[in-house]
Amino acid sequence: MASMFLNAPCNVGAIKHFDCKNYVGLRASSNQKLDCVGHTIKAPPRRRFIVRASERRDESIKKMGLTDQECEAAVVAGNVPEAPPAPPKPAAPAGTPSVPFLPLNRRPRRNRRSPVLRASFQETNLSPANFVYPLFIHEGEEDTPIGAMPGCYRLGWRHGLLEEVAKARDVGVNSVVLFPKVPDALKSPTGDEAFNDNGLVPRTIRLLKDRYPDLVIYTDVALDPYSSDGHDGIVREDGVIMNDETVHQLCKQAVAQAKAGADVVSPSDMMDGRVGAIRAALDAEGFQHVSIMSYTAKYASAFYGPFREALDSNPRFGDKKTYQMNPANYREALTEVREDESEGADILLVKPGLPYLDVIRLLRDNSSLPIAAYQVSGEYSMIKAGAVLKMIDEEKVMMESLMCLRRAGADIILTYFALQAARCLCGEKR
Ligand code: PBG
Repeated sequence: MASMFLNAPCNVGAIKHFDCKNYVGLRASSNQKLDCVGHTIKAPPRRRFIVRASERRDESIKKMGLTDQECEAAVVAGNVPEAPPAPPKPAAPAGTPSVPFLPLNRRPRRNRRSPVLRASFQETNLSPANFVYPLFIHEGEEDTPIGAMPGCYRLGWRHGLLEEVAKARDVGVNSVVLFPKVPDALKSPTGDEAFNDNGLVPRTIRLLKDRYPDLVIYTDVALDPYSSDGHDGIVREDGVIMNDETVHQLCKQAVAQAKAGADVVSPSDMMDGRVGAIRAALDAEGFQHVSIMSYTAKYASAFYGPFREALDSNPRFGDKKTYQMNPANYREALTEVREDESEGADILLVKPGLPYLDVIRLLRDNSSLPIAAYQVSGEYSMIKAGAVLKMIDEEKVMMESLMCLRRAGADIILTYFALQAARCLCGEKR
């Protein structure tokens, strides 16, 4: 499987080429294509775990034709063959103060002093198998660039999308999550387009499944792309987001997505009780095998700005603070964990990612379920912008941010960098 392959820091010769590759401890050579179909790798099987002292045999050491016994006898007799001398102590620059050594029992730097040692003791690894690639789709034929998210497009569902998915699969990313840009004329206060069996998302799922049967398709369950109010739920006259009525719509939306072939439905709406209701609705329709990834701790965050531009889904009024969580709150996430676990969620998600590492760790330590982190649009765009301004190294910051999400406890990461980061892990440059 791709992940095992990439996670195995066994090719010692590759380590000296470390750059972004040190995040996996291995650089796959560029002719190796990862292929998740049937979990095989399209590369000739190579013998691994053979570590030699050096690639080239030193020509000056000639075999003398002696037996083992003769060699041993020579050494016992004091006739010891020569080996290179121990390396001299490297000189310090002139002016370096001469000090007594610190009497330290423990010098943590010892375990960091060479690339091989660092790779041996690396606690966290990153693999394309950990990524879920969020993709924006629209009805158009062309791919439209998203101004606030450099490198991201609203992809034509019949053309650009299929190409992007093929590229991702080529480097081991075989999971996607779909976000639709819905025509204004199809939006309504109750968001009924969300459960149109022939709507953009169900249609796209059917096309993707037809082309790539083993692709894992995650869907977003929420009304905002379909709501004329731009909210995740139905808005009452007085501005209140109606909980139970919205959950009723979400159940129909999840069933429509499951019918089309979705593997994982992901309620991102933050209504109370939606996980249990969706589980029951899926089961009642014969979709016991479809998973639920719950946005367990989704915060009312300004980091979603670029995403709302991408989908033209800004709330027409107010904000989302009566359903999304207060960024100041930590304990409250545990309440959501308990609810989602007891209602039958299969995966718990934290969103945004990097500013909420403590919440990821909280969920990791309080649930045995897989944890997902969403590196959201604002996080992505900040890294892109910083790179354009030459303030940061894009590739290194990208890889570090993803590794940190894994270190905090995320099993999977939803990230707009999925393709770019997977290419980097595979040793390819864009
Ligand atoms: C909507 C939804 C949002 C995102 C994912 N699903 C936006 C919101 O809650 O307003 C944000 C993702 C991102 O910013 O990358 N249910």
